Amino acid sequence: MKYDIDVSRIPNHIGIIMDGNGRYAEKRGLPRTAGHKAGAENLRKITEFARNTGVKNMTVYAFSTENWKRPSAEVSGIMKLLGFYLGDWKRQLGDSDLRIRVIGDVSAFEPSLQKKIAFVEKQTEKETGITLNIALGYGGRDEIVRAGKKIAQMCVDGKLKISDIDEPLFSSMMYTHYVADPELIIRTGGEIRTSNFLLWQSAYAEYYFTDVLWPEFTPDDLLKAIASYQNRDRRFGGLNK
Ligand code: FPP
Repeated sequence: MKYDIDVSRIPNHIGIIMDGNGRYAEKRGLPRTAGHKAGAENLRKITEFARNTGVKNMTVYAFSTENWKRPSAEVSGIMKLLGFYLGDWKRQLGDSDLRIRVIGDVSAFEPSLQKKIAFVEKQTEKETGITLNIALGYGGRDEIVRAGKKIAQMCVDGKLKISDIDEPLFSSMMYTHYVADPELIIRTGGEIRTSNFLLWQSAYAEYYFTDVLWPEFTPDDLLKAIASYQNRDRRFGGLNK
């Protein structure tokens, strides 16, 4: 193998900020939407490879709360793409043991797209190969504020004492309550920031930044990121000695 990977320490959960679709298209003189299409194609390829490598959960940033500010043609292009892939998930997103879950606030999405999301989640709920969490209408701060509101409401309703509020309770109120926090978060496209992705869940994640544009990110690049993660000394604030 090109990269020295310890198969017994494959991250259970990888987050990916799939950046660089627009630039990939611009480099080729294509509309930005063509870059998103290439990005979606690559997501299928990388998800399948991650599953075969032993990754059990992947969370990908597909549409943020901030992405609503993009030109309406681009927003509707991404929505169409999502509709296409989720509507034809079996063929487009591949493998039969893929579970798809959506995290975020999709209430502003077209009702037909919301229906497709609910359908795909239901159809794949028994699959155990890999879970692909697609972040849509997602913002990390928004998620934390929602959790805070739910907890406050429980206190107001007398179901919870303030002294019982702790970190596990907050975690249980996140969209990702059903999955352990990611050990590794990858950002493609050259920027070195978190852009409001998995703010709560990334407290102890290792970050891996690469200049590679998302549609050009290969299975080898994923192995390189995993190798880099495995070479880090993870101390969680303590000492390893
Ligand atoms: C960031 O690149 C990418 C997005 C805002 C959209 C990502 C969406 C997909 C890959 C499609 C997902 C499809 C499915 C089926 C889940 P950018 O546009 O910011 O790139 P740039 O920085 O080069 O402009």
